[in-house]
Amino acid sequence: MTILVTGAAGFIGSNFVFDWFSESNEDIVSLDLLTYAGNLENLSSLDQNPHHHFVHGDIGDYDLVSKLLEEHRIRAIIHFAAESHVDRSIHGPRDFIKTNIVGTYHLLESVRAYWNNLDETAKKAFRFLHVSTDEVYGSLNEKAPAFTEKHPYQPNSPYSASKAASDYLVRAWFHTYGLPVLTTNCSNNYGPYHFPEKLIPLCILNALNGMPLPIYGDGQQIRDWLYVKDHCDAIREVLARGQPGETYNVGGWNEKTNLNVVKTLCGILDELKPKADGSKYENQITYVKDRPGHDRRYAIDASKLERELGWRPQETFETGLRKTIIWYLENDIWVNHVVSGEYQHWVKKQYS
Ligand code: NAD
Ligand code: TYD
Repeated sequence: MTILVTGAAGFIGSNFVFDWFSESNEDIVSLDLLTYAGNLENLSSLDQNPHHHFVHGDIGDYDLVSKLLEEHRIRAIIHFAAESHVDRSIHGPRDFIKTNIVGTYHLLESVRAYWNNLDETAKKAFRFLHVSTDEVYGSLNEKAPAFTEKHPYQPNSPYSASKAASDYLVRAWFHTYGLPVLTTNCSNNYGPYHFPEKLIPLCILNALNGMPLPIYGDGQQIRDWLYVKDHCDAIREVLARGQPGETYNVGGWNEKTNLNVVKTLCGILDELKPKADGSKYENQITYVKDRPGHDRRYAIDASKLERELGWRPQETFETGLRKTIIWYLENDIWVNHVVSGEYQHWVKKQYS
């Protein structure tokens, strides 16, 4: 049997593929459109692995997906593929609607047709795991309790609205057609292979290059941070033992202000890669114009996952961030490749 991983050349998808092969020999078909965020180099160490099959294609391509499902007798899908960056969704929401909503719809339809033709045992065992975000719940004030799975959806950005819409489609395909779906809503991830448009990798690279560390607004916005391997472990647990039709919050119990995140990162860099002139990386922090509609606080209550499936994150923010920074320091070839080309256009558009 084989699983299909969509968006496998992206940040979390590639980490998931590695995590999977560290625990299992079951084959993976990786389907990815290789947008600006998809990078085949992330998966290049698997080039000789006979259990890994990469396919360049779109989740919205009904015929291609149907063919892959049939040919590889897929028993589960882990659906990561998406447009994932809030700031890009503000500049241009179109691709977010196209991939996150319409693409997920086409994917669900090809999966439903395939699933309908399986025998009863295979039908029962089949899973469609939809990877979503805590951003669908909207913004919390400082004292409000963390999001549980029962919190109403109140998405505020084009990105989170498109993810919320895809979550609803997945839910409807369970209730209406009986497709055995699982949904995870996870907080902000960080770790290896993170495209440097997001806060943590952007600040690591800018710090090392002597560039400003841009903090939106007052820097007091709060996110809950989870090391990517912990997220991948949670997904494997939910896939193996989650109840179809259920949703599971995944989070790190690590609420931090953005300013705190960047200062902690600077402190680790001061230790691992002190600046030649003895100055502190923190001095590069620069306050810039706030993001429109910037959500103030996200916080995840992941107790359902702990209670029902026994999952808890292994990394603290300090240990996970240290591992991440060491990875970026040791992988300058990967970094040099991703910061060329399209990335430069993005930086100019967003920060100049
Ligand atoms: P990413 O942007 O790094 O990767 C997305 C991948 O999807 C890329 O490889 C891209 O090429 C591919 N892709 C885009 N459109 C496609 C299409 N139409 N067909 C096939 N492939 C396509 O994103 P990520 O950070 O790895 O996030 C993965 C998933 O996890 C997303 O669904 C995101 O909403 C969700 N999520 C992310 C975070 C986070 O902090 N990064 C947190 C919670 C949930
Ligand atoms: P980001 O990494 O884009 O993730 P998300 O918007 O999905 O939470 O941003 C994390 C936080 O950091 C968010 O509150 C916006 C803020 N931020 C900055 O202050 N400066 C930046 O340059 C970026 C990219 C983000």
